Amino acid sequence: MARLNIRWLLRSAFFGIATVVGSEAMFASLAEASSEVPPDVGPGATAPVRPFRLDQVRLGGGLMQEKRDRMKAYLRQYDQRRFLVLFNNQAGRPNPEGVAVPGGWEDGGLLSGHWTGHFMTALSQAYADQGEEIFKTKLDWMVNELATCQDAITARFEGKGQGSGAASWIPTYPGYLGALPEDTVLRLGPPRFAVYGSDLNKNTWAPWYTQHKILRGLLDAYYNTNNTQALEVVTKMADWAHLALTVGDKNHPNYRGNITRDDLNYMWDVYIAGEFGGANEVFPEIYELTGDAKHLETAKCFDNRESLFGAAVEDKDILVVLPQNIPGRRRRERLHANTHVPQFLGYMRVYEQSGERDYLDAARNFYHWVFPHREFATGGTGGNYPGHEDNNELFQNRDDIAYALNKSGGAETCTTYNMLKLARNLFMHEHNATYMDSYERGLFNMITGSRADTNSVDGPQVTYFQPLGPGAARDYDNIGTCCGGTGMESHTKYQETVYLRSADGSTLWINLYVPATLDWEEKGFTVKQETTFPREGSSKFTITGDGPLDVKLRVPAWVRKGFRVAVNGETQGQQEPQPGTYLTLSRLWKTGDVIEVKMPLSIRVERARDRPDTQVIMWGPVVLQTVGQPTGADGFWDLSLYRYLKRDGDYAQGAIKRTGSTVGGDPLFTAAGSDVAVRPYYVSDLQPVSSYFRRVEPAVVFGSIDTGVANRKRNDRLPEYDVPVTGIESPGSDGPTFLDVLWDQAPFVTHADFVKAVTSTADSFVAAGVYTTDERDVIVVKASEAEKELNPGCTPRERRM
Ligand SMILES: *[C@@H]1O[C@H](CO)[C@@H](O)[C@H](O)[C@H]1NC(C)=O
Ligand SMILES: *[C@@H]1O[C@H](CO)[C@@H](O)[C@H](O)[C@H]1NC(C)=O
Ligand SMILES: *[C@@H]1O[C@H](CO)[C@@H](O)[C@H](O)[C@H]1NC(C)=O
Ligand SMILES: *[C@@H]1O[C@H](CO)[C@@H](O)[C@H](O)[C@H]1NC(C)=O
Ligand SMILES: [Zn+2]
Repeated sequence: MARLNIRWLLRSAFFGIATVVGSEAMFASLAEASSEVPPDVGPGATAPVRPFRLDQVRLGGGLMQEKRDRMKAYLRQYDQRRFLVLFNNQAGRPNPEGVAVPGGWEDGGLLSGHWTGHFMTALSQAYADQGEEIFKTKLDWMVNELATCQDAITARFEGKGQGSGAASWIPTYPGYLGALPEDTVLRLGPPRFAVYGSDLNKNTWAPWYTQHKILRGLLDAYYNTNNTQALEVVTKMADWAHLALTVGDKNHPNYRGNITRDDLNYMWDVYIAGEFGGANEVFPEIYELTGDAKHLETAKCFDNRESLFGAAVEDKDILVVLPQNIPGRRRRERLHANTHVPQFLGYMRVYEQSGERDYLDAARNFYHWVFPHREFATGGTGGNYPGHEDNNELFQNRDDIAYALNKSGGAETCTTYNMLKLARNLFMHEHNATYMDSYERGLFNMITGSRADTNSVDGPQVTYFQPLGPGAARDYDNIGTCCGGTGMESHTKYQETVYLRSADGSTLWINLYVPATLDWEEKGFTVKQETTFPREGSSKFTITGDGPLDVKLRVPAWVRKGFRVAVNGETQGQQEPQPGTYLTLSRLWKTGDVIEVKMPLSIRVERARDRPDTQVIMWGPVVLQTVGQPTGADGFWDLSLYRYLKRDGDYAQGAIKRTGSTVGGDPLFTAAGSDVAVRPYYVSDLQPVSSYFRRVEPAVVFGSIDTGVANRKRNDRLPEYDVPVTGIESPGSDGPTFLDVLWDQAPFVTHADFVKAVTSTADSFVAAGVYTTDERDVIVVKASEAEKELNPGCTPRERRM
C-alpha cells in the first residue's frame, strides 16, 4: 500500500505543476487533497486523454436521469443479503432465515456469484453520482461480509478452520472467493479441461467470467467509494488467481506441472466454459495499484494466442470463418459476441500498463470488425442469418445486416455495454471522433432503450436481446443474467463519458450532449451543461472559473446543416464545422462565460450495407422506430418516401412529419403515405416496433410527377459475404436505386443544380447499362419540369444564430 500512495502522489504532483503554474500553497493542498482519493487506474489511466472520476460529474434532469432513477430505486430496495447466501454456504457461515438466493443464473448453478459483482459496481456508481448514503451502507456491508467469507475459506487452507457440508472442501491456494467451490474454476484447466454443462461436480460455466465480475465490483467499490477493505480483498483474490492460472490444479491426482501457454490457449477457445469476460482487465490495474509484476503476468495468461488474439493483431477477421478449428483447436465457426468483446477491454488495459502495442492494435482491429461491419443502426451486434439459425448470441457474417435481422433475438444488450467501453477506451488513445459517434449511437439507442419506462422494482427491468426483426417487442426483466447485471451498471454511469480531459489538464473534451455538471476541482473549473438533447437539438454550457483552457466540442457525424457554436453570444468560426470532428475553443475563460451549441436534429435514412432497400429512419443519433405490426409483403413496413421530398432533401418537411410530443417531451412523427406512427428507439414499452423498414420506390418520381420510368437498381454486387448465407447469392446483383443515388446528393441549392445532378446520375446509369438513353431523356425532361413541384418554399440558406 505504501507504494500505492507514493505513485499517486507523484502523479498528482505532476498534474498539479502542469496546471497550477507554480503556486506552491495550492500545489501542496492539491497533492494533499488528491492523496485521499483513490487513484483510478482503470481505462485511460496512462492515455493522452483520461476520464474524470464519476463523482466529479453530476447528471442533470432528462432522459438519462429518468432511466437512472428507476435503476437506483431497484438498487435501493433490493435486499443485498441475498447476494451473500451462496458465498456464506461456501464459507461455512450461517445465513439469516428467510433470505433467498437472487435466482435466475444466481440460483446455486455454475454461474453463481457474477451478480454480486455487478451489484457492487452498480452500488458504487449510484453512490458516486449523488453521494446517497444508502448505497455506500449496502456496499460496505457486502464488502465486509465478502472479506469474512474469503478469510473463512482461506482458514481452511491454513488448516485453522474446518468446514462441513457445502463448505467441507479445502482450497488449493489462499485468497479464493466465490459463490461456488474453488474446484469449479480449477477444473477448466489441465488435466481435466472441464466443459460447459450443469453437473456441479464435473462441468463448469465461464468461471473466470464470474471471477471477473467479483474482482471488478470490488475494484469499483475502492475507486468510487474509497472502500480500502475492497482493495485488500481484491488483492488476495488476484494472488490466488495468479497461482490458479500458472501452477494450476496441483492437488489433482493427474497433475502434470505448471499450466502451459498451450493449455491456456486450449482453455480460452472452448465455447461457454472458456468465456472469461474481461477478467484480463482487472489484473493490470491491480499490478498498477500494488506494483507487483506478477499481476501483469496473470493478465497475459488470458491472451487467446492460438486464435483470436493473433488474428486481431494481424487484422484477419475470424469472427465467422470456415472451417471451424482452424485456427484454434476448439474455435467454432461463429464466435459468440459477448464472450469476445470484453477480452479486448483486457488487452487495452495490458497495453496501458505495459506499453506493448500489439495489445492496442488487436483491440483497434477487432473493434473495426464489429463497427461498422456488424453493427445495426442501433449500436447492437450479433444475430442469426439464413442457414445459421441456431443462436442469436453469435456474430453474424461480415457485412451482414439485413439478413441477420431476427424477430426472436440478436443484438444482445451486454455486448453493446462492452462495445461502448471499448470505443471509449480506444478514443482515449486515438481521439478519433468516429469512436464517439458509435458510442453516442449505442448509448442513445441500445442502452437507454434497454430499461423499461416503468417504476417497477421487480427486477432490473432491462432487456436481454433487442431484436431487430420487424414488429418485435422488447422484453424486460433479467434477474441474474449477463444483461441484467450489465444493465444495473449501464444505468448508473451515464455521466462517465460526457467529459474527458487531456493528461496534462490543458484540454477539456466535451463528447456528449447530456445535461451534466463537471466539477474539475484540480483546475478550478466548473462546467454546467444544460440540454434536453435528444429531445431537442441544442445545448448550453456555463463556465465557472478563470484561466486558459482548450475546450473541444464534438461535432457529431450525423449533423447535416445548421451546427453553430457561440461563446457569449458571438458565433465561432466562419463556416459550419465538419461533421465527425471536434471543434476547439481556445481562450482565457472567465466565470460566467456561456457556450451555446445549436445542432438541428435532421431526419435521415440509412441503408443496410448489404441490402439498400432495408433502411432505418434516424433522428440525430437516435433510430426512429415504426410502431405496430407491419403489414408489408415480407413482414416489414413498406414505405415510399421520395415523392414527399423537396429540393432540400429534408425528410422532416413532408416524408416523416412531426405530429407532436409525448408527455415526457419525446417527439412523435408519422411516415407520409402510410400513417405509421414513428417514435424514438429509447421509448421502452411492450409495443411491437420495427427499426428497419423496406423502401419500396417503384417509379422515378419528382414530387407528384411520375416519369413512367422504373426506379431501377444499380448492380453493386450486393450482398457480398465471404462465408455463404443459405439461399442468398453472394456476390449478388443488388444495389441502390436511381433515386437513392440522386437524393444522396441533396440538398440542391437551385433547380438547375437538381437537374444537373439528375442528368449526371442518369448518365452514369446509362453507362452502367441500367437505363437506355431514351429513358434517361424522359427522366431529365421530367426533372426540368419539376421546378415548382420541388420548391421547398424557401431556398436553403445558411441560418445564423
Ligand atoms: C479514504 O480512505 C482512507 C483510509 O481509510 C482515508 O485515510 C482517506 O481519508 C479516505 N479518503 C476520502 C476522500 O474519504
Ligand atoms: C510454475 O509457476 C510458478 C508461479 O508462476 C513459478 O514460480 C514456478 O517457477 C513455475 N515452475 C516451473 C517448473 O516452471
Ligand atoms: C431467428 O432466430 C431463431 C432462433 O435462433 C431461429 O429459429 C429462426 O429461424 C430465425 N429466423 C430468421 C428469419 O432468421
Ligand atoms: C477515424 O476512423 C475512421 C473509421 O475507421 C477513419 O475512416 C478515419 O480516417 C479516422 N480519422 C482519423 C483522423 O484518423
Ligand atoms: Zn447478455
